[in-house]
Amino acid sequence: MSTYGQMSIRPILSNTRIMFGLLPGLGAMIVLRMAIHIYRPDIEDAEHRVRDHPFEHLYDCYDFIIVGGGSAGAVLANRLTENPEWTVLLLEAGQDENVLSELPVLFPVLQTSSIDWQFVTEPGDEYCLSMVDKRCKWPRGKVLGGSSVLNAMLYIRGNRRDYDNWASMGNTGWSFSDVLPYFLKSEDMRIPEYQDSPFHSTGGPLTIEYFKYEQPITRKILEAGQQLGYNILDVNGAYQTGFTRSHATVRDGLRCSTAKAFLRPAGKRLNLHVSMHSLVEKVLIDEHKKAYGVQFTKHGQHRIVKASKEVILSAGAIQSPQLLMLSGIGDARHLKENGIYPIVDLPGVGKNLQDHVAMGGHSFLFDNPYDNGTDYCFNLINAYMLNTLIDFAVHKKGYLYSMMEAEAMAFVNTKFQDATEDYPDIQLFIAPTADNMDGGWFGKRANGLTDETYAELYEDILYDSSFSIVPLLLRPRSRGFLKLRDANPYSPPLIYPNYYSDPQDMKVMVEGARIVQAIVEQPALRKLNARPNPNRNPGCADFDLMSQEHLECQARHHTLTIYHPVGTCAMGPVNIPESVVDPRLRVYGISNLRVVDGSIMPTIVSGNTNAPIIMIAEKASDMIKEDWSDVADYGNSCPPIYNGRQHQENKESDEPSKINLNHIDLDVFSETSNIFPHLPTDKFEVKATKLKKGNIDSKPHLISREYEAKYKEIIPIHKSKDLKPPYGPEFQQNHINPNFLPGNIPYYLTPYPYWNIPQYSDRYNWLPQGNYGQYPKQNPYQFNVMNRSRPNLKQKKRPYTLPANHKLTPVQNYPYRVDQTPLFYETENISTPKGQKCKAWLYYNGIKYEIVL
Ligand SMILES: Cc1cc2nc3c(=O)[nH]c(=O)nc-3n(C[C@H](O)[C@H](O)[C@H](O)COP(=O)(O)OP(=O)(O)OC[C@H]3O[C@@H](n4cnc5c(N)ncnc54)[C@H](O)[C@@H]3O)c2cc1C
Ligand SMILES: *[C@@H]1O[C@H](CO)[C@@H](O)[C@H](O)[C@H]1NC(C)=O
Ligand SMILES: *[C@@H]1O[C@H](CO)[C@@H](O)[C@H](O)[C@H]1NC(C)=O
Ligand SMILES: *[C@@H]1O[C@H](CO)[C@@H](O)[C@H](O)[C@H]1NC(C)=O
Repeated sequence: MSTYGQMSIRPILSNTRIMFGLLPGLGAMIVLRMAIHIYRPDIEDAEHRVRDHPFEHLYDCYDFIIVGGGSAGAVLANRLTENPEWTVLLLEAGQDENVLSELPVLFPVLQTSSIDWQFVTEPGDEYCLSMVDKRCKWPRGKVLGGSSVLNAMLYIRGNRRDYDNWASMGNTGWSFSDVLPYFLKSEDMRIPEYQDSPFHSTGGPLTIEYFKYEQPITRKILEAGQQLGYNILDVNGAYQTGFTRSHATVRDGLRCSTAKAFLRPAGKRLNLHVSMHSLVEKVLIDEHKKAYGVQFTKHGQHRIVKASKEVILSAGAIQSPQLLMLSGIGDARHLKENGIYPIVDLPGVGKNLQDHVAMGGHSFLFDNPYDNGTDYCFNLINAYMLNTLIDFAVHKKGYLYSMMEAEAMAFVNTKFQDATEDYPDIQLFIAPTADNMDGGWFGKRANGLTDETYAELYEDILYDSSFSIVPLLLRPRSRGFLKLRDANPYSPPLIYPNYYSDPQDMKVMVEGARIVQAIVEQPALRKLNARPNPNRNPGCADFDLMSQEHLECQARHHTLTIYHPVGTCAMGPVNIPESVVDPRLRVYGISNLRVVDGSIMPTIVSGNTNAPIIMIAEKASDMIKEDWSDVADYGNSCPPIYNGRQHQENKESDEPSKINLNHIDLDVFSETSNIFPHLPTDKFEVKATKLKKGNIDSKPHLISREYEAKYKEIIPIHKSKDLKPPYGPEFQQNHINPNFLPGNIPYYLTPYPYWNIPQYSDRYNWLPQGNYGQYPKQNPYQFNVMNRSRPNLKQKKRPYTLPANHKLTPVQNYPYRVDQTPLFYETENISTPKGQKCKAWLYYNGIKYEIVL
């Protein structure tokens, strides 16, 4: 057993090992990405991926504007554009899903990546004590598909009573029998034994399967559950209490986010525009307290777009209330403190925050019954082997399909819950792994556990066969809240989860840990000599292992969010002052504004939140269709000049998006390093170049980033001496005040030339003069087109000549923080009306930009 005497050296050892260990860094990700490119075009799915609608081609007015393309927003975008008469703009702050996010095993790596908003809670005295700065990390998806791209893919609906309780609180239309049809509407159940159940359906867009890979230990834990007296059953069926293999939102074993399920099939509809990298700053509200549009920013360009029917906030439980407050809707006193004029005093905005809190560090050692070297549980060292990659790329099976954080789960009752009610108060995540099995790469980093705690708990049992069973509170009584940090839309809100502020929550949690202990003592696990990790959290070393005090202390130290914050724009009847939206999800006091996402849950559901939020969006879509079905269009539709129908007739004007988006070459390196800037690059290696068909057995070895860049004949931008601002007269002319972005902006870039479409140019009149000078002044104009389906950067560039009747505009400026993101450029001589000119082509997030040198 560890002692304090060892502590001084252990954290250092642990940290050093983590830094220099040969584990999944950026190199491994790049190899994986390459392998997918070569072997798995099914994952790239280039044909169906959603295209970012060019900024220049957005209309000035849509019937509906949806803010946030997450679990809820993606569903709404699909369902509302089923009506061809309606135009819909979906604004998403993040980028498209990355192909790597589809691999279940990479679930923990996505946290703290660039597709995570990376929120953290305010420091607490009673919880998150073992985390760096006593702050728990709260990942949220900043990507098309939202948190459904980062989540653990567990498909759980909650308990029927959750919804019956919503209804009895005055939320007409939300009882279990009301909402079940909407669960069924989305669902494509692919687990054969459930396909005929009245609780499931097939043919919907959201596929449900078991995870494709399973560790042997998981079966043993399920067996132990049965020995304890629980059944193995369909926890999404008639009865919730019991154990099950996890139902998962996966398709052919790969993540099925809402972007995949709902947006890709709708991506080609002409009445749906998806604008990524578009951060909404506020909802615009007129003097009649009617929401008439939004203000957003894309690549530093401000824009206002109007909504003739509704603005719908689906920015999630943290940002929907933030946006309401920024727009003047919330607790009036709090808004004034931040210099925001309160339009509607709605004290409930940001309150009523609920989350599923869990006790981490509950890991158990056992003896591997196999004596031939095969693992019985998930072991990172063995997962990152070349044959794993081959299994995945070539045979479509193996470790990379494993969601080792929750292969199975259970819903159980503590002594505080009447077991006959089938309303379990504890959920257990059953993981065929534990934090010691990944050397600190996954769990430690994702949760923000301190080095010291990790070292003390795990360093002497690293990679010893282990599993964990994590208990979480299904219906916590504690309530937290959110506040604005300030009036800046780029500032993350202040998050106060208040875990365990209600003492009953701690009592239930400790009982949950006792149930875990009882499972581990069943014969199926006894046979494997299953036993608790003998090391205690350094903050709890004074207490006897598994004593009441120890478990309580562990809950307060090793506090885990199960990533389910909800309730911050609670639905409720008008007579409850804390209600933010009515049972049709309309914001009180403002017309034409709804909130549709996890924030509307009045009380958290007894299970994971993704499926319930998808249900909420399905139901909301039907309510919106109903509400507008008998309203005369007069006054609620965009003027014809703006509504884009004219645009659709003129298909030619859609040409530019083809040029700008379809011909961008694939740059695996920058794409991947953009997403995972947090992964170490040094020790990893990957002779990506050798990874061609027939040559896959060459053992990967390390190459540095510089080498990789050189190989590709692209130069990291910071290596360039030549690139100094300003770039030329064009830039001076189109100067935008850089102060609206925080920090220094060392470079200005102009994006790849867009078209100037004369008939729409009047749209931009509201922009400051001087932004739209003509460059070049005359045609024809030549530039290079790269072919996306031929990713080899060495391909011969095809000069492209614009038709003579088109004019080019210099495009608005794209001020970028070049220092933050890996960028690459190539230079090329091109001909312009002024003669030969040297330009740099710059690639950022899959978009090509032009720098005038
Ligand atoms: C790590 C993790 C694991 C999870 N595991 C599970 C699980 O296994 N099973 C499960 O059921 N649930 C799980 N969840 C929870 C579940 O995924 C979320 O509750 C659900 O996805 C939230 O849906 P939403 O529509 O409310 O918000 P989100 O899906 O988060 O969508 C909000 C969207 O709005 C965008 N946005 C925010 N602000 C703006 C703005 N100002 N302008 C433009 N766009 C904006 C965001 O980028 C995001 O795309 C997990 C969540 C996380 C983070
Ligand atoms: C080791 O033994 C187990 C159980 O018999 C078997 O499933 C597994 O395939 C074996 N592994 C190897 C590498 O032979
Ligand atoms: C891109 O390359 C593919 C494959 O070589 C070819 O079929 C396609 O026609 C090319 N597209 C264009 C626009 O050149
Ligand atoms: C571009 O043109 C300049 C001057 O005409 C020449 O010096 C330079 O080598 C050319 N660069 C390339 C890449 O062709």
